[in-house]
Amino acid sequence: MSNSTENSASGTASITKEPTSSSLQNDLLLHLNTHNKLNTWSYANEHNIDHQLVIGTFRSIQSMGDIVRMEQETSRSIAPTDEGKILIDNGSYEYNLFQAVPADKGIEQPELMKLPNANIGFAKAMSNGWLEVDKSCKPAIVKRKVDNVHDEVKNLLMRIQSLQLSDPNAKEVVDLKKRKLVKDDVVNYFIVTKSAGFSTNIAKGEAELTADMLQTGSWKSLNFKQYNFNAKGMIPSYGCLHPLLKVRTEYRQIFLEMGFTEMPTNNYVENSFWNFDALFTPQKHPARDAQDTFFLSDPAITTKLPTDYLEKVKQVHSTGAFGSIGYQYDWQLEEAQKNVLRTHTTAVSTRMLYKLAQEKTFRPAKYFSIDKVFRNENLDATHLAEFHQIEGLIADYNLTLGDLIGILYEFFRKLGMTKLRFKPAYNPYTEPSMEIFSYHEGLKKWIEVGNSGMFRPEMLLPMGLPENVSVIAWGLSLERPTMILYGINNIRDLIGPKVDLEMCRENPICRVIPAKVEN
Ligand code: PHE
Repeated sequence: MSNSTENSASGTASITKEPTSSSLQNDLLLHLNTHNKLNTWSYANEHNIDHQLVIGTFRSIQSMGDIVRMEQETSRSIAPTDEGKILIDNGSYEYNLFQAVPADKGIEQPELMKLPNANIGFAKAMSNGWLEVDKSCKPAIVKRKVDNVHDEVKNLLMRIQSLQLSDPNAKEVVDLKKRKLVKDDVVNYFIVTKSAGFSTNIAKGEAELTADMLQTGSWKSLNFKQYNFNAKGMIPSYGCLHPLLKVRTEYRQIFLEMGFTEMPTNNYVENSFWNFDALFTPQKHPARDAQDTFFLSDPAITTKLPTDYLEKVKQVHSTGAFGSIGYQYDWQLEEAQKNVLRTHTTAVSTRMLYKLAQEKTFRPAKYFSIDKVFRNENLDATHLAEFHQIEGLIADYNLTLGDLIGILYEFFRKLGMTKLRFKPAYNPYTEPSMEIFSYHEGLKKWIEVGNSGMFRPEMLLPMGLPENVSVIAWGLSLERPTMILYGINNIRDLIGPKVDLEMCRENPICRVIPAKVEN
């Protein structure tokens, strides 16, 4: 760009000289002294000073006391468009085209038309009467009709840019606007007048009261700068919750409202006994394979397991017990001792139920947790090897599948999901088991939202829970609803080094699933 004019909403003139702030302050006050009134926009243009600098200087004069008054006004103006600015640099298309026509013999038309923007240039040059076409030759020859031309378009654009021409309704301006070389612009400027404390000789006020001023008493005669209560403060840097934690907060709130107690989930490392065996998951189950589960190498095993309970679990797996024939296989202690990264928070639920069963008399309980689990997954756009599970369970006398369905409706209704469907499923530790689907009003389709079931007697009775106590439970992932809520398609935009901190800061706490709640 040859010229730095940038006709912004506040209007900025060409910057050719930049006065020091104190000399500008002086100039402005002297100008006001003689003229009584100053238009910041005209002053900036006449003196080729940045308009914002003029406004800023008056603002700082204002901060020193009641010296000047500023009243904002707005006017329409015009400015060259980006294309207009290119023409200021390079000349108009018609002018360049005329120059490309040799004065004596002319030029073959196809050759001339190879110039950039030749079509517009040719049409304009013809209607200006600059050129003529001799069609008697093949191809036709374009010749000059006049000896010399002035690049009037470029001149106009330059006058507009330097604000010598600012009437949006002038005829020549309207033409340029049609050609999209000029656009309307709004200028906000100030009319500045003298105020009660006006003087051309203002001392910069003191900004700070020092110990020295107090000791010498000099503060009494000093002029102190006024506080500027309109100044914008610095935006303090602040922390924010990650979207996953925002959604977790929302889920936690729902569980707490429903009277659930949060389970302690602060152990990522679990042993196979609590993660699988206690959940009646046979030792040859594919989930217990290294392909699906992360096994720890150090420490590879746990030896601290509750002996009596372990014996009952072994029995129910191998020979059968508590009315079940079990799986009839050779259960191995070594397999149960293996440490793993927990594959589900149901391991925590199991520990909590066992603890509950050890109490003298059974008391009904409602537990929930929201924490991380780990699986040896193939990584793709929606799967990582770790994710968060949301889990809820209720232990009470004589609960039925109807209770489970009822509580699921209540839970998901609080999330804004009112249409549910259930599909029979299989988990080693629940019978019956159901996958939960919900109709997503935003996505307009049924999506799987979780897994659920009634814990099997083979899991509950070895713990020592009374026979007429049943436990209903369900689990879902935290990532899935979070990605849907925040419109995130790739898990790597939610977790890992590519996460945009601004995204975390700017995203509000999400209302979970905006659905029409039916009564
Ligand atoms: N543990 C199950 C899973 O990982 C979820 C679940 C929890 C299912 C409780 C039934 C009951 O998918």
